[in-house]
Amino acid sequence: MTPFRYGCVVSGENFCPRPELERQLREFAASGQNLVIQGERRMGKTSLVKRAIGGMRGMRLIYIDLYYIKTLSEFCARVMKGVAKASDELPFLKKAVQFASRLRPVIAVDPRDGSTTISVDSRAAGEPDSLGAVMSALEKLAADGKTCVVFDEFQDILKLDNAMGVLAEMRSAIQFQENIPYFFTGSVRNDMMKIFDDMDSPFYKSALTFAVDAIEPVPFTKFIAERFRKGGRKAGNAVIARIITFADGVSGDVQELCEALWETTEPGEEISTDGFEAAFELIFSREIGGYEAMIERLTPAQGVVLRAMASNPGAQIYSNDFVAGVGMPVSSIRRAVGRLVADRLVFARGGVYRFANPFFREWLARQ
Ligand SMILES: Nc1ncnc2c1ncn2[C@@H]1O[C@H](COP(=O)(O)OP(=O)(O)O)[C@@H](O)[C@H]1O
Ligand SMILES: [Mg+2]
Repeated sequence: MTPFRYGCVVSGENFCPRPELERQLREFAASGQNLVIQGERRMGKTSLVKRAIGGMRGMRLIYIDLYYIKTLSEFCARVMKGVAKASDELPFLKKAVQFASRLRPVIAVDPRDGSTTISVDSRAAGEPDSLGAVMSALEKLAADGKTCVVFDEFQDILKLDNAMGVLAEMRSAIQFQENIPYFFTGSVRNDMMKIFDDMDSPFYKSALTFAVDAIEPVPFTKFIAERFRKGGRKAGNAVIARIITFADGVSGDVQELCEALWETTEPGEEISTDGFEAAFELIFSREIGGYEAMIERLTPAQGVVLRAMASNPGAQIYSNDFVAGVGMPVSSIRRAVGRLVADRLVFARGGVYRFANPFFREWLARQ
């Protein structure tokens, strides 16, 4: 079994401890502080919050995932799902059902794993006052001051019709609940800024910002070396540094490359940079369908710009060299890049554009 995990929430021995961040999150939760938890995708936000708050004594975690929600009824269903997962104590579940009675909730036991779920009537959950009903259910359930409510991928609330109306109603419910910590995590920086830094947004400056960046290189290197050792391979600090650099410090990408390196080597073997090529080939073979689908959606101009970005990582894309290489007017480049950002293929960090997926960049540069 591979000693590396990616693409999922990690815990236990698959989680490289981040004691300082865990401690800070626990303190904020204990004091009822609302937080905006910001960080690129695959940095480890969800794993960190679940570990810090889920593992906290005397604190219950209501974890609500808003990834790609499209309707209000889905929003209400996700909240109730989070509530059901927070506790399997019957009194708590009964209270939850009672507090959200307007949504006509039903408790059921999942026969596959015995876990409890609360499903809500999708028509009732789509009615205009349903948002008020779930927000007040959350308030009543968390009124003991021992519950932390996490909305993950919160930027996706912007996908709802009337998103600003929804945000306004949430904000008016939340603002007087001083002893309930609400954590809003998000990975799309621009969209999170629209919610928390735009003066016209109901959530303007309503929570403290908490950044989740790359894991500190020294503990992460130790963790990776140990995982390779556990998996019967050897890996020195120099090669681990190369892995982290390639993945730009993004935890999930680091683990993905490590997993492929482990998969393409034999027990007892020493990991070296010579092995990167085989590891990339393995990753490409797994992901090529996705890469091709992404390419197909591009206009010709977007394709040209994206390929040039792949071949010149870290380039200033409005520099004379880059513009001349692309052979398009700056205004067209600007438009193409705008679309690539909106489609979440690339994003800006520290003045340069980066690929959301470093393996896709590597693949594209070879085409
Ligand atoms: N503390 C950690 N130690 C080791 N790997 C981690 C850690 N946090 C995240 N990862 C890696 O990153 C991947 C994505 O983690 P996740 O918590 O889902 O990130 P995010 O919520 O920021 O997108 C995980 O599958 C794992 O490979
Ligand atoms: Mg996440």
